[in-house]
Amino acid sequence: MDGKALAARIREEVAREVAAFPRPIGLATVLVGDDPASEVYIRLKHKATLEVGIEARDLRLPATTSEQELLTLVAELNADDAVDGILVQLPLPDGIDESRVINAIDPLKDVDGIHPLNAGLLLAGTPAHVPGTPLGVLALLDEYDVELRGANAVVVGRSDIVGKPAALLLLHRHATVTICHSRTRDLAAETSRADVLVAAVGVPGIVQPGMVKAGAAVIDVGLTRTDAGLVGDVAPEVAQHAGFLTPVPGGVGPMTIAMLLQSTIRAARYRALELAHPGA
Ligand SMILES: NC(=O)c1ccc[n+]([C@@H]2O[C@H](COP(=O)([O-])OP(=O)(O)OC[C@H]3O[C@@H](n4cnc5c(N)ncnc54)[C@H](OP(=O)(O)O)[C@@H]3O)[C@@H](O)[C@H]2O)c1
Repeated sequence: MDGKALAARIREEVAREVAAFPRPIGLATVLVGDDPASEVYIRLKHKATLEVGIEARDLRLPATTSEQELLTLVAELNADDAVDGILVQLPLPDGIDESRVINAIDPLKDVDGIHPLNAGLLLAGTPAHVPGTPLGVLALLDEYDVELRGANAVVVGRSDIVGKPAALLLLHRHATVTICHSRTRDLAAETSRADVLVAAVGVPGIVQPGMVKAGAAVIDVGLTRTDAGLVGDVAPEVAQHAGFLTPVPGGVGPMTIAMLLQSTIRAARYRALELAHPGA
């Protein structure tokens, strides 16, 4: 499954929508500290944002920033009319309570879909902002016409930003969903039943060929930096009998960014009252 090609198409659509929007659209990203992986993600998001014509504000704060200083910045961005979307890159440095910061983001501007109101709306089946990675997973499955209704979908990983929302999106599309995690007793037994398998763990090669049903659609969300470059959670040999497999890199990564751009337009529409945010 070619995430790079689909993401490029979505970015073109977003650029057209941004140009047609009656006013400029703004996205503020906030990076606290100097985690190298987060720095790369922010750089890629910032570049893609500018390329589609969204006004990007790339805010960098030192690792010594206090929770109160960050909360003050979030409050300023909430009140700033030129900012439609706010993305606070996680993880935050030790000493800052992540949930307090997340709770402080205006749910209408929460393009990462991490505010509890947006998470709850997804649970309720009336989603507003949803995290970009699981949205990208669903967009790829749809692009390749993978049948979800009634399918056995297995999601490995239960984080708030990937595993749980991916499972909910699949459930809302009428898949029979199993969520696996570090305490799952027999991971291979669970994954072997999957027609759709989403691996979002961060352990290279945790999904081996013997764990995948022939013809299954396999989405590899995992990203781990190794001496050999970026690798996913799925062993490359799985490609030999999977029906579909996303490459790493070039699969879910570019989709995550494309969906963030779409969410920024959605945020602008909520704020312009073109769209009703179901929790507002
Ligand atoms: N491509 C992209 O754009 C993109 C975006 C986001 C994340 N990612 C990547 O996706 C991966 C997951 O990200 P995340 O933020 O969800 O990570 P996370 O918060 O660390 O969650 C990892 C999940 O994997 C589970 N897990 C760990 N070891 C396991 C094992 N041996 N067997 C089964 N499950 C196991 C954990 O279970 P417990 O809950 O029991 O601990 C947890 O639920 C990472 O590699 C990350 O870099 C990629």
